[in-house]
Amino acid sequence: MTPSLTEDLLYFVFLYSLPSVLLITPTGPSSKIWTDPPPPPLNFSLVCRSWRQLVLSRPRLWCDISIVHKLGVREDHINPGFERLIKKWLALSSPAPLRIHLDIQRDSNNYVSRVILPLFSQEHHRWHSIYSSIAISYTPKPLTFALPCSPSLTSLSADFWGATSSTGCIDLSRYTSDAASHLEYLVLGYCTVMHLPPLHKTLHLPRLRVLRYKSAEGIGNLEDLQRILSASKNLEELEIKIPGSTISTLKTIQDSIHLPHVTSLTLVMSNRPTTNYLLERITCPSLRKLIFTVRYPMDTEPSVEEFAFMDFLRIRDFLARSCSNASLEELTLDWQDLKTVYYPDVESLRDLLLSLKDLKKLEVHEHLLTQEVIGMLTLRDEGSPGSQICPSLLELQITKQFGCGFEEDMVEEMLVSRWKAGSLRSFTFAFPYFRELHRRKRVRDCVEEGLRIVDKSFELGFKINPET
Ligand SMILES: *[C@@H]1O[C@H](CO)[C@@H](O)[C@H](O)[C@H]1NC(C)=O
Ligand SMILES: *[C@@H]1O[C@H](CO)[C@@H](O)[C@H](O)[C@H]1NC(C)=O
Repeated sequence: MTPSLTEDLLYFVFLYSLPSVLLITPTGPSSKIWTDPPPPPLNFSLVCRSWRQLVLSRPRLWCDISIVHKLGVREDHINPGFERLIKKWLALSSPAPLRIHLDIQRDSNNYVSRVILPLFSQEHHRWHSIYSSIAISYTPKPLTFALPCSPSLTSLSADFWGATSSTGCIDLSRYTSDAASHLEYLVLGYCTVMHLPPLHKTLHLPRLRVLRYKSAEGIGNLEDLQRILSASKNLEELEIKIPGSTISTLKTIQDSIHLPHVTSLTLVMSNRPTTNYLLERITCPSLRKLIFTVRYPMDTEPSVEEFAFMDFLRIRDFLARSCSNASLEELTLDWQDLKTVYYPDVESLRDLLLSLKDLKKLEVHEHLLTQEVIGMLTLRDEGSPGSQICPSLLELQITKQFGCGFEEDMVEEMLVSRWKAGSLRSFTFAFPYFRELHRRKRVRDCVEEGLRIVDKSFELGFKINPET
């Protein structure tokens, strides 16, 4: 048909059109398990006999599968052809490495987790990358399943929304030597537990570069986290979200966790002992970016001593210990709690910021943003250069949805002072009550000179009616 295209070239064109998107649809005459036209590589195989032969002879063309859930809220009768289709697809893809993408926002009758996941699990020895975000339906007997991670796997993202905190078990028990693990990217969602090798020092994750760990649970998981971190000597990006309030008896774990290559650390915390534990144990000498968020706990009412708070001095000490050969360039501080209003300890915040001479980007959100803090961020002519807060800041972002407690005048003053001092390039803000900030004369002058100002109030949903 197209004699000028060599087989190899065709093959690359076909590969380029992947993944194959397959649809979970209800039963019924009009129901199709694929899009119209059909997904690649099936559509290519329908073109002519030589294309069909090529497509059927190349397993890699069948190994990149993305499943989309197309059932309405009341539709629970799933097309039985779907299971057959997946089996066929998997057979044609063998022995090529599998890339699977499952994004199932409502798993009707737990069809995907009960029927489809096990089909993929049977082929775990050739997993290359797995992304699965599945909302498990509530059933009287909670569903649980295991994802057996094999040496070939390089990327795993497992997010389950289930009835119990141990809906999905991520089995890392085979990663017992450097050669046995190729995992580079790992996301462990809220409803997952881990199965680790039985002996403490035997876990090896030498290639892991990115770890995102989310847990609503208590001590067992934190011990697992510590084991994973100790096994991941080459980690570059670490995110830990523990919005539960449970952990309190961590005194048994004393080892420090040294992460020499981590440049970006995100902590979203609710429980004070857990937060203190992490800030005291972790060292990241290459750290460039820190995001520190305090949230009100999701699960129970904590006692006041248990609830995490913005402890600036602890953050300062953590950074002083960590940033031995690098200095922090980006810092985000975010304190959110809808129940109580907190006031930050401004003197400690000043101490923290004064210690960060090379900071390029600063974000300050919610409770942290008060009149005193705006005043503190304003650069003044008087005083020694050493008393200036982050003089080389390029980007500043401040947002506050609830309450305000300061005037537009103050923000204008702060902004203009930073612009005049010469380094600020970009300012982003979001406040429900401010109307005119970027129309003010002095602010407009800065914009004309090149300052970039972004009002994110609408984007963040802080304001409903756009101003006219
Ligand atoms: C097959 O589907 C892919 C992806 O949608 C598309 O790029 C390609 O043009 C289709 N080929 C044919 C022959 O329909
Ligand atoms: C910082 O020092 C550690 C050793 O303490 C080293 O492993 C790391 O590569 C250094 N990072 C940078 C950015 O120099």
